[in-house]
Amino acid sequence: NKEIISLKEVKSFKTRSEEFFPVEWFKEMLNHSPVFYHEETETWHVFKYEHVKQVLSNYDFFSSEGPKTTISVGANNKEGTSPDKINLVNVDPPRHRKSRSLLAAAFTPRSLKNWEPRIQRIADELVEAMPRNTVVDIVEGLAAPLPSLVIAELFGVPIKDRFQFKHWVDILFQPYDKHHHEEIDRKKQEAALEYYQYLYPIVLEKRENLADDIISDLITVEVDGEKFTDDEIVRTSMLILGAGVETTSHMLANTFYSMLYDVPQLYEELHSNPELIPNTVEEMLRYRFHTSKRDRTVKQDNDLLGTPVKKGDVVVAWMSAANFDEEMFEDAFSLNIHRPNNKKNLTFGSGPHFCLGAPLARLELNIALKTFVQKFPGIQSVESFELEKNLTDSATGQSLTQLPMHVY
Ligand code: HEM
Repeated sequence: NKEIISLKEVKSFKTRSEEFFPVEWFKEMLNHSPVFYHEETETWHVFKYEHVKQVLSNYDFFSSEGPKTTISVGANNKEGTSPDKINLVNVDPPRHRKSRSLLAAAFTPRSLKNWEPRIQRIADELVEAMPRNTVVDIVEGLAAPLPSLVIAELFGVPIKDRFQFKHWVDILFQPYDKHHHEEIDRKKQEAALEYYQYLYPIVLEKRENLADDIISDLITVEVDGEKFTDDEIVRTSMLILGAGVETTSHMLANTFYSMLYDVPQLYEELHSNPELIPNTVEEMLRYRFHTSKRDRTVKQDNDLLGTPVKKGDVVVAWMSAANFDEEMFEDAFSLNIHRPNNKKNLTFGSGPHFCLGAPLARLELNIALKTFVQKFPGIQSVESFELEKNLTDSATGQSLTQLPMHVY
């Protein structure tokens, strides 16, 4: 169930840093091979905005039901995998509609509004814990903990258990490493079982006392006469964790990296004009989320990509590259928080599978950034920091393991 085609297989990068920000490769592909067939993996790759949108959303021709899936789930045991009822990532409409509606119950606009103060409290706690006039590691202090603490809060997990909850999430979504595959598998299965045994009684308890949280929403939702069982709720919660934690952590860490190294004046501008934060978040999603890509399988022969593709072919849509398509974004290779159309980024996908958690992710990114910017008038990079030594393989490509910076 894990991503089968990794960036590395299609393009070998000399360094981790190059893979961390593969824009030179995106540029080359956009300019010279926008529809590219990769012999070794026998897959098509598309990079242009229009093509990527087409592949993601035109499900009559490009199906999500192929053998390759992307959002990786927790572990390979029963406790660590999603129930059939919630097979939404791998099915096309109309089948997709029911699972999507069941899960969407947990992400209504009404919920979002109620969540804001709760997310704010978590951001406040994390930012308050960072001393002024010192060096802080923003990955450890904010980017890594925030998304899983937020989800623990939204699941209605007791506060005292939050760090234990985060610990399970860290193991469950730790990337595989070729040399320790079996050991990692065993650890993940153990964590999935412990997590399951922890959350199951919480679900039972909530059935008796519904509250304003995601677990309670999943208990009450009913679509076409179908409801979730307790077992399904626990396992569905893991899909939410899998889709929503590492992605958001990665985006948050990269945003700080970008403020330190892409445009160092940006931070000051945001500190003086915090109303620019929402647009900054969108520009960061466009510019600094590098490995957003999804694969689809061709359903019927077609030449919608300007070249014939055959039923059964696999096509990988590179959203991160499409975000640099000059036909959509003027001067696409520069970071510009004032860009009027940066919300058109394809980082959350497009069409029926458009990220269900996008409003939550956006809210978390906005709140985290605003809270941090309000407290600290300035940040500065640490001279001894070497990017190459602070990256690791992850589901989202290369992710920062730490990002120390001076804060004032
Ligand atoms: C789907 C990206 C955060 C839950 C997706 C898809 C993308 C994506 C590209 C489309 C999959 C496809 O077309 O096959 C991201 C990014 C995030 C993020 C970049 C953060 C910056 C979240 C969060 C949650 C979430 C916070 C929930 C807590 C989901 C779910 C789906 C999904 C449930 C499946 C939707 C479907 O197949 O109908 N995400 N996501 N995501 N995302 Fe996110």
